[in-house]
Amino acid sequence: MTVQSFVYESAEAASVACARKLVELLERALSTQPRVSVAVSGGTTPKPMFAEMAQSHFNWTNVHLFWVDERCVPPTDSESNYKLAKDHFIDAARFPAANVHRIQGELPPQEAAKLYGDDIRAFFKLSSGAVPQFDVIHRGLGPDAHTASLFPGEPLIDDHKNLAAAVYVEKFHQWRVTLLPAVLEAARHTLMLAAGDDKAQPLRSVLRQPYDPKKYPAQITTYDGAGVIWFLDKAAAGTAVRS
Ligand code: 6PG
Repeated sequence: MTVQSFVYESAEAASVACARKLVELLERALSTQPRVSVAVSGGTTPKPMFAEMAQSHFNWTNVHLFWVDERCVPPTDSESNYKLAKDHFIDAARFPAANVHRIQGELPPQEAAKLYGDDIRAFFKLSSGAVPQFDVIHRGLGPDAHTASLFPGEPLIDDHKNLAAAVYVEKFHQWRVTLLPAVLEAARHTLMLAAGDDKAQPLRSVLRQPYDPKKYPAQITTYDGAGVIWFLDKAAAGTAVRS
């Protein structure tokens, strides 16, 4: 598998580079499409990515923003991935409110997941059973090799039919809504952003162990490498990726 990866001195530099690639890919897609779609993740690493997107002076008018996953909390909660993007990108970029496709974390998880799936189907004008192709999906890597809100051992990792689902994350005693593998695998471009010492081991496993997404969920999409770019800091790259 040829892995396209870029290694930077710092988490900040990796995040900024990821943002610039995201904008470049959206700009390229807009040269042949009237509108484009991007799904972003949450956590802490992406903060500088969102800030760079906000100050990029890119015209977001024809960009539609979705989430890879969301914690089932209100949009004002510090845990909310929507709030993270709002605070660091949406407001500063004056991103068009009508183009924000928020997962409604304040609702009961199953209802939030259903409504999100309905929103995706409506936006992509999907016939029953079809899978959307996002132009860009940004994902992170957890210290346990999770990605999105698909954690090791999660049965939903085998669900290649549905678009999104509610998932109870034992580790955090928290309900979440997450995109499912079929959607992640259909992405035109996948940008993986990982930084920090605690990502070196999971990255090595994801890149070097045989394909076992139940054990290493971040291998979803990234294993065959097509359309995947890793943005890493030196700490995360460790010995797995030459800088
Ligand atoms: C979330 C994210 C999650 C994240 C990883 C890595 O809701 O937490 O979507 O999948 O990408 O946990 O997070 P960090 O990059 O902040 O370590």
